[in-house]
Parts: sequence; C-alpha cells; structure tokens
Amino acid sequence: MRLPWLWVLLVTSAVTVRQSEGLKREACLLPSTQMPEFEKSTVHIKDPERVEEIICSLIKGGAAKLQIITDFDMTLSRFSNNGKRCPTCHNIIDNCKLVTEECRKKLLQLKETYYPIEIDPNLTIEEKFPFMVEWYFKSHTLLIEQRLQKDKLPEVVRESDVCLREGYEQFFDKLQEHSVPMFIFSAGLGDVLEEIIRQAGVYHPNVKVVSNFMDFDDKGVLKGFKGELIHVYNKHDGALKNTEYFKQLKDNCNIILLGDSMGDLNMADGVSNVENILKIGFLNDKVDERLEKYLDSYDIVLVKDETMEVPNSILQKIL
Ligand code: TMP
Ligand code: MG
Repeated sequence: MRLPWLWVLLVTSAVTVRQSEGLKREACLLPSTQMPEFEKSTVHIKDPERVEEIICSLIKGGAAKLQIITDFDMTLSRFSNNGKRCPTCHNIIDNCKLVTEECRKKLLQLKETYYPIEIDPNLTIEEKFPFMVEWYFKSHTLLIEQRLQKDKLPEVVRESDVCLREGYEQFFDKLQEHSVPMFIFSAGLGDVLEEIIRQAGVYHPNVKVVSNFMDFDDKGVLKGFKGELIHVYNKHDGALKNTEYFKQLKDNCNIILLGDSMGDLNMADGVSNVENILKIGFLNDKVDERLEKYLDSYDIVLVKDETMEVPNSILQKIL
C-alpha cells in the first residue's frame, strides 16, 4: 500500500529535523493540526497539500534563507476597524486639515471613479493599467497644488485613523529579532508610510521601503515626486528596478509575499533565486466576485481578516 503523502512528509521531515534541529521536531505537520490559526473561517486555501509543502520547505530553510516582500496599504494596514473603513497612505492626506475642502472633494471623486476600476474582477490588469496611471497623475497633481509641508506630516499621521493589522508588533519584531529582511513595496506614499511605521515603533533596520516618495523644495514644500511612479499594477517594473537589493540577498531564496491586490503578485519579480515562495493574499472587498481568482493566484487567501495571526503563526514555526 502506498503511504499517504502526509506520512511520507512527516517521516522525512522528522528525520531531517531530528538530525539538525531537535527543537523543530513537530514542525512539519498539517497546518490545521499544528496551527490552529488555519482553522479560522477567514482562511481559504485551494491546495492545502501544496501550502503544507511550501511551509515545510520554509521551516527547513529557517531564518537564514527567509525574506519578506510585502505590500503596505490594506495588507500591513487594516482595511476596516470596528466596521469603519481605514485610510490608505493617500487617504490620510486626502482627509487631513492641510488640504482645502475643494481639493478633498476632487480627491474623493477620483477615488469614487478609480477605486472600483482597481478592484473590478471583470477587467484585466492591462485594461486597468491606463486608468491607474490616470488616477495617480491626477491625485498627485492635486497634492502638489496644495503645497504640502514636509514638517506637518508627523502630525497628520498622528491625527489620522490609520491602523496596522492586529499582531503587527509581533510580525515586525520577530523578523527584526531574527534579522530577516523585509521589503515593503507600496504604491502608496513613502513619506506617510515611513511615518506610520516609525510612530508604531516598528521601523527596524531590517525594513526597506520602496514607494512613491515626495520631493520637497528647500523650504520643505511639496514640489513633485521622486523617481518613477509606482502604481497598483506596475509593481513588476518596480521589482526589476530593485534587483541590486535582491542580489545582496542571494542566500534569502525563501520568500513570504503578502499583498491585497492582484498587482502585488508581481512584487517578487526582481528576485532571481527563488526556491520557495508562499503567497498570502488579503481579500478585503468584493469578496464573492473575487475569491475564485484570488484562490487561483494566492496560496493562502485571508478573507476579511484584519489580523496578522496566520502570517505570525507561520513565522512562529520558521523562526
Ligand atoms: P499599496 O501598494 O501600498 O497597496 O498602495 C496603493 C493603494 O493606494 C491602492 O490600493 C490605491 C490607493 N490609492 C488611494 O487610496 N488614493 C489615491 O489617490 C491613489 C492614487 C491611490
Ligand atoms: Mg495594497
């Protein structure tokens, strides 16, 4: 009789583990039995065996081989809190007191026009692409017109409703403790993003932020944006521009990728030495229409899950 797949995995990994790291003896068991977080109703997995296989490979590789590549808005930050929508980096500025009422209205209208396109399950990425460029161009032009002041950003972030996902401290701190590189790749606003994680006390030295950074004049007034625009659906190009960063991490060939958009799936495109990649997708909005596509693309889909419980439970096993 053929041994069930799980037993083969259990025996082989148990032997390997016993030889090398006694402490991780029970690590390679089905997520549902060893990791109660996987039993939550928010967790959806199309191919549990494959997920288990990847997680086991990540466990075997340990901290030395691991790196994290993650989106920011609606991935590290919450989509909603007590039923109320939370802001993206852009929305923090849209809603702040530095922006005139007229400008706020225009930014809101842009959001109402383009956000439905961003998440429309019936449009391809190629079809959405020009609309995203349009959204960013119009929105950034309005922000520049407002002559935002750099030194006001900390206060604006402090007074906003932005909220990181429950368990974010453990996520950031554990990665820092084990010197696991974390690449935050965001189509949001870099200066706002950095201020959020700084104020949350988790902007550790292992974190690198790639995003849209504001360009200020010598009086600290916003005059433009640095570098090439990163929008929701050009992360492939942005990833390739960061090959130098990834080259330095040539031994970190195991990746955990976290995102909330189909565009986030391309965030690891700049890594040439991928051995194992686990893709975790947060599906926050229009769940029924989008679940199937997310299940086809992400290994683990977390539906309306405002926590880092599942990523943390995986890190707990690896580190
Ligand atoms: P992310 O790559 O960190 O998720 O950030 C991009 C998000 O920002 C994406 O969901 C679109 C959103 N966004 C706004 O909320 N307002 C805007 O004006 C623009 C241009 C983008
Ligand atoms: Mg996002």
